[in-house]
This record gives sequence, structure tokens and C-alpha cells, in this order.
Amino acid sequence: MKTDFDLNAYWMPYTGNRQFKQSPRIITGAEGVWFTDSDGRKVLDGHSGLWTSGLGHGRQEITQAVSEQVANLDFCPPFQFAHPKAFELATKIASLMPGDLNHVFFTNSGSESADTSLKMARAYWQLKGKKHKTRFIGRHKGYHGVNFGGVAVGGIPANKQLFGETLEADHLSHTMLPENAFSRGMPEQGAYLADELAAFVTQYGADTIAAVIIEPMGGSAGVLPPPVGYLRRLRELCDEHQILLIFDEVITGFGRCGAMTGADAFGVVPDILNVAKQLTNGVIPMGAVIASTEIHDTFMDKAGPDYVLEFAHGYTYWAHPVACAAVLAELNELLDKQLPQRVAEEAPYFESLLHDQLADKPFVTDVRNYGFAGAITLEAKGDEPLRRPFDVAMAMWERGVLVRYGGDTIQMAPHFVMERPQLEQLVGTLAECLEQVS
Ligand SMILES: Cc1ncc(COP(=O)(O)O)c(C=O)c1O
Repeated sequence: MKTDFDLNAYWMPYTGNRQFKQSPRIITGAEGVWFTDSDGRKVLDGHSGLWTSGLGHGRQEITQAVSEQVANLDFCPPFQFAHPKAFELATKIASLMPGDLNHVFFTNSGSESADTSLKMARAYWQLKGKKHKTRFIGRHKGYHGVNFGGVAVGGIPANKQLFGETLEADHLSHTMLPENAFSRGMPEQGAYLADELAAFVTQYGADTIAAVIIEPMGGSAGVLPPPVGYLRRLRELCDEHQILLIFDEVITGFGRCGAMTGADAFGVVPDILNVAKQLTNGVIPMGAVIASTEIHDTFMDKAGPDYVLEFAHGYTYWAHPVACAAVLAELNELLDKQLPQRVAEEAPYFESLLHDQLADKPFVTDVRNYGFAGAITLEAKGDEPLRRPFDVAMAMWERGVLVRYGGDTIQMAPHFVMERPQLEQLVGTLAECLEQVS
């Protein structure tokens, strides 16, 4: 590929910059389930952008809402002032949440949602007079973004290695048990792993633990659906010991699991629910932390005189009017076209493709799926666990299909609107590329 710009000035995030710049993968357009690259090729987007764009790219309804909003009100300071769409959107989101998750605190990203939720949990206990409830419990293989709090509670070692001290946090075991390999949907084994929370309570005392934060279905570590009964057990233990349960639904929020949230899909309601990616369909950054009425009201009741800030926390661009307009249009489409239901209906077909076509391919040690999320794990090449996923993802790109490689996994996240021939192309191309792996 020829470029008329210098590739060096842009230091790319989460990218092997040296490799990329030898062999750039430049995307210049997007429509529906397709990208166009700088060679003019059509590339099937097998990852909904980055778990972001379930409705498909270039949705006119969102484009129009965004351009009208920019023309009308391009910015509104979110501290001490507000615009109507922020209220409209918060009301809409609250109406779509389970249980009493009724109060929406906007952010710009999943990482900001993670750190916001951790601060909210600590502040809640402070306001309740439980000053020692500051400890966080995450889970191995968990991903909660890249800010210091999220990195601390996350359980992906590579994300911590170079950065020194973060917050203190402990971690539950992950649920990727060998006996669960090649499970279709939720694995049967592993609910007992939630009992590790009880062991932390014994070790530290419940009066020191503020919150447990997990993804109801792990995403970035390679699609880890929860074992049957696991989330329910965790909820029971949190209730028993007065520990807040935070679901990081940055991937599972708004349709990916064939329901509005992972909480709905798996039947367990947290105290705080974090979202981001699918909110704007990837068009504009936005995230949110949705808190229970109990948490919200505690801040409102205990924070002192009413001109005093209840939660001294916020970024300049939070609740941005253009992002709010994008989300309102996105949710309209999601609901109108009943896309979470479509995902639920088509998920069994996707599941069959994944397991029937990939399970017996060379070096595949696991296939996992739920809703419109699927992943395989590949055996390490010598002492390089990341090598084969990288080789496979590059071979797929050569054949015009984009997937994500992460750790020792290949991850797929079809658009909620993806039709069966494209699902077949996605999984079929992966099957072909796996035959060529050495
Ligand atoms: C569960 C989860 N939390 C947080 C994040 C971080 O989101 P962002 O990249 O928008 O900061 C991600 C991103 O993949 C995620 O999957």
C-alpha cells in the first residue's frame, strides 16, 4: 500500500507499531458489515468495529441525529449546566435497565466508566459511615480498561507489567476450567468459584471490602460466558456481606448477549452497571455508569447542603450533546428493529458454525460463545502464546475478513444485523486460515 503521509508520527494504541508500519492495515470507509481498505478492497468486519457497531456502520439515523445536533448545540458545559438530551437519554437508559438501576452518570469510555464505578463504590461506603470499606475484588482475566483503577482490578498481566503501583486489589479465579473447554454457551462447571469471595471475606473482613467488579461475560480475554449459577452465587454473597456488585457491561450492554444487558441475559442484577461501546454504535465516544436508587439517594441525602457537590468527579466532555444525540438515535434503532431479539434468535446458528467448523482444526484448544460473541483459544507456538492468533488474524485480513486477536485467542463479534452468508464467510475464512497455521 502506498501512502502520502508519514506513518511514524502516529503512535498507535494497543498495536505492535513496528509490525503495523511495515505492513499497514488502513481503513478508509465503512458501510453495513463492510469496511473498505486503502487498496479499495471490501473487508468483512467480523468484530463490529471493536465490539462497538452492532447496528452496522453508516446508519443514516445516527448520522443525521449527529449532524443536526452539531448544528444546534455543539457543546454544553456538563458541570453546573445541562442540555435537554442528557435528561432525555438518562431517562431512556434507566427505563431499559433491570431492577432499580435508575440513575445514569455519563462518561466517555469504558475505562472511565470502570474508574468512575470504583470511586462511586468507595464514596458510597464513606457516606454510609463505613470508612474501612475500600478494598476491591476483581477477577483473573478480567478487563476493565486502562486507567489505574481498571488496570488494578483487571486480571490481564500484560496490562500491568510496565506500570508499577496501581490500586491494591484481589482477584477471584477466572472460570475457564479445562472441563469447560468446547462448551456451547454457558459452561456447566464453575459456580463454586464464586465462593472464593467468601474466602476473601474471611481473610479481610467484609467491613473492608467495597465492591466486586466483574464482566458478566468476559470479553477481551476471549469470550468467557459465566458458568451456570456463578453470577447468582456471587450476588448472594455480596448481599450477605454488604458488598457492592459492579457489572462491567462495556461489551455486553445493549444487545451483544441477545438481551438488553448481560444482567438480563443471565438473570442477575448488580448494584452498578457500566456501559460504553455499543451506546453510540461506535460513532462518538460515550460511556455511562448506571447506579441503583439506593446508591444515588445515599449521595443525595448525605452530601451536606444542596449547593455542595455530591460526587466531585467529572470530565469536560461527559454528557456531550452530540454523543447524547447519537445514543438516542442508536437506541431508537436498536429497539425499533428488535436487534437484541434478533441476536438471541440467530445465536444458535452462529454457535453451530463456530463449534462445527472450528473445534477440530489444528491447535484449537477451546471454542467459546454466547449471543453474538465467539472466540477460540490456540495452543502456544513454542514459548510464544500470541504468535498463532496473530498469524491467523493477519491471514484473515489478507483474505478480506477482520477479526481481533487478543492474547492466545481469536475473537469474533458479528454485527447484530449480520446475515447468515456473512456469518458463514466469517467462520469459514477462519476455518481455512487455521488449516494453514504452523
Ligand atoms: C469490559 C470492558 N471494560 C472496559 C473497557 C475499556 O473500554 P474503553 O476502551 O472504551 O476505555 C473494555 C474495552 O474493551 C471492556 O471490554
